[in-house]
Amino acid sequence: MAMQRVYSGFICLIIGLILSTKNQLCRAGITSDYVRNYNSNMDMPLNSDVFRVPPGYNAPQQVYITQGDHEGKGVIVSWTTPDEPGSNAVLYWAENSNVKSSAEGFVVSYKYYNYTSGYIHHCPIKDLEFDAKYYYEVGLGNTTRQFWFVTPPKPGPDVPYTFGLIGDLGQTYDSNSTLTHYELSPQKDQTLLFVGDLSYADNYPFHNNIRWDTWGRFIERSAAYQPWIWTAGNHELDFVPEIERVSNVAYNIINGKCSPVRDESAPVYITIGDGGNQEGLATEMTQPQPRYSAYREASFGHGILDIKNRTLAYFSWHRNHDGFAVEADSLWLLNRYWKLEEPAICPAELETNLLCKLQQLSTPRPQNKLQSNLTDPKASSSPYIFSGLT
Ligand SMILES: *[C@@H]1O[C@H](CO)[C@@H](O)[C@H](O)[C@H]1NC(C)=O
Ligand SMILES: *[C@@H]1O[C@H](CO)[C@@H](O)[C@H](O)[C@H]1NC(C)=O
Ligand SMILES: *[C@@H]1O[C@H](CO)[C@@H](O)[C@H](O)[C@H]1NC(C)=O
Ligand SMILES: *[C@@H]1O[C@H](CO)[C@@H](O)[C@H](O)[C@H]1NC(C)=O
Ligand SMILES: *[C@@H]1O[C@H](CO)[C@@H](O)[C@H](O)[C@H]1NC(C)=O
Repeated sequence: MAMQRVYSGFICLIIGLILSTKNQLCRAGITSDYVRNYNSNMDMPLNSDVFRVPPGYNAPQQVYITQGDHEGKGVIVSWTTPDEPGSNAVLYWAENSNVKSSAEGFVVSYKYYNYTSGYIHHCPIKDLEFDAKYYYEVGLGNTTRQFWFVTPPKPGPDVPYTFGLIGDLGQTYDSNSTLTHYELSPQKDQTLLFVGDLSYADNYPFHNNIRWDTWGRFIERSAAYQPWIWTAGNHELDFVPEIERVSNVAYNIINGKCSPVRDESAPVYITIGDGGNQEGLATEMTQPQPRYSAYREASFGHGILDIKNRTLAYFSWHRNHDGFAVEADSLWLLNRYWKLEEPAICPAELETNLLCKLQQLSTPRPQNKLQSNLTDPKASSSPYIFSGLT
């Protein structure tokens, strides 16, 4: 519970031991003085434009895609039909091709207290080409709907890829602002990593699941066109009446059960939240700012994780209240797998100098002891990204 209070409704970047090199990171422990504009945190009303039901009898709604395999040649298309099961099929074709293929999925539905869901369809599509644009169509007869997606490039150690990062989205006006900012971001994000806490339907009596449907219609404008990859957060626990919330964070350093040590090959933790949910402005942060925390700030927004190649990635945070291209905070991340065994050859005063580090990286050397038993280099390559628990 302490964790939830502390992380309630803000974005907090916990940067463990810094492998990254941007100068601002020399300044240890910054709490940004940015103050969020505190408007209403009300959910958008049910009759809002973003929740509009598509026209036509039994029209597919809440369309979204997610990655369908580990390679990037598969996609799973999901959608809901309100009136009857209709068709489980997805028709799809490559851009500039007349050959249409059809994949067959399955349908499920559920009841939750007084709520009965629509017909929820999931349909895997396999054996797609890498790096290709496909159109797809769901629905039957007169009420079909068309969307498109682009498959990822063939995987490789130096293939660049850009992830969007959103957590704690909810369905307030701020949520809409976050999604709009994300869509208009000049960076070419290819897949969204959703770090947990989706609809906040659980804040309604009986977790009114109508708010899952509105949320599904709200995010369709992005999630039907690029894969959203999901993590469940504490708001996805539908135990009732009153639940004991559990943290999905594996390493909790604020409960005193473990403590950080200085180790340059340790991962970097970035905790983000506040895509705009209804829980409001959090003013509480652990005081004083702990030594292991490099930067923290309370702002609605989204992140971008831009993987450049095997050694280098760039993280940036984009506040809703700034212009679309403004980065409120950013840092370079160096893959610890390529960390040198030998002491840094950069002089101490240049330890945080990016160019100096890049020079080191241009001559890959054996991995250090800590990594020597990792079989998969990729396993150690990513920063860990968590949503703030709110
Ligand atoms: C279920 O009950 C809740 C609480 O009374 C109400 O707000 C909601 O609209 C009801 N849902 C349906 C589908 O009737
Ligand atoms: C589909 O469209 C045709 C031609 O416009 C119409 O005759 C038919 O009634 C429509 N079917 C449905 C189910 O709406
Ligand atoms: C949500 O944002 C979109 C895009 O900016 C806008 O067209 C729409 O009117 C907004 N809806 C609400 C309810 O604010
Ligand atoms: C990764 O990208 C950086 C910046 O463009 C470059 O300096 C570095 O050599 C690249 N590393 C590899 C392994 O390609
Ligand atoms: C990997 O190395 C760590 C630290 O040296 C050790 O504790 C762990 O048992 C090793 N794991 C395997 C699978 O060898």
